[in-house]
Amino acid sequence: MAKNILSNLSIYVHWPFCKSKCPYCDFFSKVKKNIDQDAIIDGYIKQLETYANLTKDRDIVSVFFGGGTPSLISPQNIEKILNTIDHLWGLSSKVEISLEANPNTQTPHLFADLAKAGINRLSLGVQSLDDEELKFLGRTHSADEAMRAIDDVLQNYTNHSVDLIYALPRQSTEQWYKELKKITSLGLKHLSLYQLTIEENTVFYKKGIKALDEEKAVQLYQFSDDYLSSHGYDKYEVSNYAKTGYQSRHNKAYWLGQDYIGIGQSAHGRLRLNNKIFAVTDPISFEELSNEERAAELIIMGLRLTEGINKSNFKLVCGLDFDSFISQDFKNDCQKQGLIVDNADTLRATKEGFLILDYVISGLCGA
Ligand SMILES: C[S@@+](CC[C@H](N)C(=O)[O-])C[C@H]1O[C@@H](n2cnc3c(N)ncnc32)[C@H](O)[C@@H]1O
Ligand code: SF4
Repeated sequence: MAKNILSNLSIYVHWPFCKSKCPYCDFFSKVKKNIDQDAIIDGYIKQLETYANLTKDRDIVSVFFGGGTPSLISPQNIEKILNTIDHLWGLSSKVEISLEANPNTQTPHLFADLAKAGINRLSLGVQSLDDEELKFLGRTHSADEAMRAIDDVLQNYTNHSVDLIYALPRQSTEQWYKELKKITSLGLKHLSLYQLTIEENTVFYKKGIKALDEEKAVQLYQFSDDYLSSHGYDKYEVSNYAKTGYQSRHNKAYWLGQDYIGIGQSAHGRLRLNNKIFAVTDPISFEELSNEERAAELIIMGLRLTEGINKSNFKLVCGLDFDSFISQDFKNDCQKQGLIVDNADTLRATKEGFLILDYVISGLCGA
């Protein structure tokens, strides 16, 4: 295969276990004691071998251990998986290897041991630096423990990120400002700021907890954008902000439509084989996607990026011409309203467009 974006492959490894279930969380995760971790890892290795037989010629650009709580995987097992990937495809020193950690799994040497095992980017689920908010979110760590975990991350990882959740019910701009002030004073390289969403099948939903009202949430969102931009963070995606050189390569692979495989219960991927595009799921199964289905996905994912969609990249990945695929009438309307900027090479959402991105995306896709 000629070397271009189509040669790239990312690997997502899902660890579907947590110490406790957070009441807002809709991710696939279970609280289970006495799991046979070594046996599960052996299963993961077999799946990697199967995928490697199909994708030997690909360049691995990123590996991401997500969850659930992958900081519960022992550093020995992380190393075993990385050695397997290295053996099967080759892992250059440039490959971004991330792991999501929860402060409630931190032990004195865990983050250092994970670094020794090969992790070179740590993403810490802090969620809040306020004890009341942490309690509301059902987190099992305190703000002090989160701060100690952040210190530990800073000592062991140049490349790192912190997740925060905002727009909690009744959260004021003043409260959110205090959080942002604290978090931006720590010299972190990357921040993911998520508005609390109340998902069905969560304890919050069953308890009837309501999200912050829309207008207030928009205010906090715009406040975050302005505050982070004035503190040296570039917003490069709906919820993601980075200092120069520290965007998440793995997440960008999804947003740009590069191939990835997913290992572990509930994980999924997108894989091009013999010029066909497949949705792949764990346990390994393949469902072919039409070019139009992939094109719609590329618009959904690509417009999340502030740089927008690169039209040649779009054509390369789904085989369709971008300008012929989208609704030109809707695009012209959006342009008039200042929701998007369109030129010969790219189409991107403006600040105003980001506020109603779902509407822009579905209209462009002709829905
Ligand atoms: C899959 S979780 C894994 C992180 C890790 N297990 C932890 O909780 O620290 C990734 C991130 O999604 C965010 N998240 C999960 N559920 C959310 C929700 N309902 N609303 C907003 N953000 C959410 C949290 O910030 C979390 O850190
Ligand atoms: S937020 Fe993280 S720790 Fe909490 S249940 Fe979800 S995946 Fe597990």
